[in-house]
Amino acid sequence: MKILVVGGGGREHAVIRKLKQNPNVTDIFCAPGNGGISRDAACVPIKATDIEAMLGFALSEKIDFAVITPDDPLVLGMADEFRKHGIPCFGPSKDAARIEGSKVFSKNLMKKYGIPTADYQTFSSEDEAVDYISKGSFPIVIKADGLALGKGVIIAENLEDAKAAVHSIMSDKIFGASGNNIVVEEFLTGPEISALTFCDGKCVKPMVSSMDHKRVFDDNRGPNTGGMGVVAPNPFFTEAVANECMEKIFLPTIKAMQEEGCPFQGCLYFGLMLTPNGPKVIEYNCRFGDPETQAILPLLETDLLDIMLATTNGTLNDIDIKWKDGACACVVAASGGYPGKYPTGLAISGLNSDGQIDGADVFHAGTKFDGEQFLTAGGRVLSVCCVAKDVPAAQRAAYEKLSQVSFENMHFRRDIGAVAIAAINNK
Ligand code: AMP
Ligand code: GLY
Repeated sequence: MKILVVGGGGREHAVIRKLKQNPNVTDIFCAPGNGGISRDAACVPIKATDIEAMLGFALSEKIDFAVITPDDPLVLGMADEFRKHGIPCFGPSKDAARIEGSKVFSKNLMKKYGIPTADYQTFSSEDEAVDYISKGSFPIVIKADGLALGKGVIIAENLEDAKAAVHSIMSDKIFGASGNNIVVEEFLTGPEISALTFCDGKCVKPMVSSMDHKRVFDDNRGPNTGGMGVVAPNPFFTEAVANECMEKIFLPTIKAMQEEGCPFQGCLYFGLMLTPNGPKVIEYNCRFGDPETQAILPLLETDLLDIMLATTNGTLNDIDIKWKDGACACVVAASGGYPGKYPTGLAISGLNSDGQIDGADVFHAGTKFDGEQFLTAGGRVLSVCCVAKDVPAAQRAAYEKLSQVSFENMHFRRDIGAVAIAAINNK
């Protein structure tokens, strides 16, 4: 089977390394891919959002199955175009991808179907938004409606900051058209859980739970990033919480999408907060998380391609998805300066010629291979992941392996997994 994976980060690298384990897979292409991915797949220089070129490539290469991983091509409708031309793919339709692509859509969906989430109002007028915020309490959460590279959420501590946030999103258009509408919502507290699931439109099967670390510095300080590290499983996602989520959140969401005429196929990612009033949805993503995927897939025992095909064929219910006992920790090595400005092209030392380290999975996010060595080429550069018997052992292993790689001004958090380990120790 010939597979095309769309995207080019650590998440795609993790997906590719898992897909390679299926004996029926003969070729894997990745567009655009990256330096590390080029050791595992044939990289094709097509932008992930270039639907026409991607489809043209898939048709000319007679691709049997496509895996569309990033949010933007899904929201633009790449999966629909592929299916229209007879190429089955893993990933939701354009209509189903609205669950991530429009926060107004997802919040209204949750309200209509009684799915627990933060109270909110939506606005298309700056004056009306400011008027509403002036009557509320702080902190308050302001979200751009559309995609904003994970930066579209602002938590305002006071009216002045809230007014500035609304103005920058709605008038200055710092996120472009994504800020034509906004959601203003109640500030929730509690531990966060990334609950990724496989869905075939009617059946939903959770993956192992995980905990992301979004801020750039230790102790959750500094600006939000795409994610600086993950541990899986997440100790807050106990069996009781998992059952409650299945009953009140996962199944109702799948059913809601069916009823709205846009059944969800692919990976539906539930960003949850375990509030004092139970689990609530903070956000939906219409795709695998990054770097969650890098910590989740090493724990998957069942063949990934078989699961992906089942999501497409509507036969997910027939598959028993097995996970390894134990845990995985993933620590991201980022360029100094990320998520702000950073240099690229710096030599990375400590990797073998396959871009790996013995005893770890190194998934490349922002690297280039110049024929001899790996160079930095992005903000998040590598994710170093280790599987071990439990979260503390996985964390120790990941940091030990990470200490073998370096590049100038490499930055990583030193507390990935610390909150999870404290929770495990308090049990
Ligand atoms: P998102 O991009 O939607 O994942 O939001 C980024 C981060 O903002 C989340 O991981 C939460 O930590 C925080 N956040 C989003 N919505 C809320 C909320 N209603 N209350 C508290 N924190 C929130
Ligand atoms: N790690 C968070 C995300 O993928 O959205």
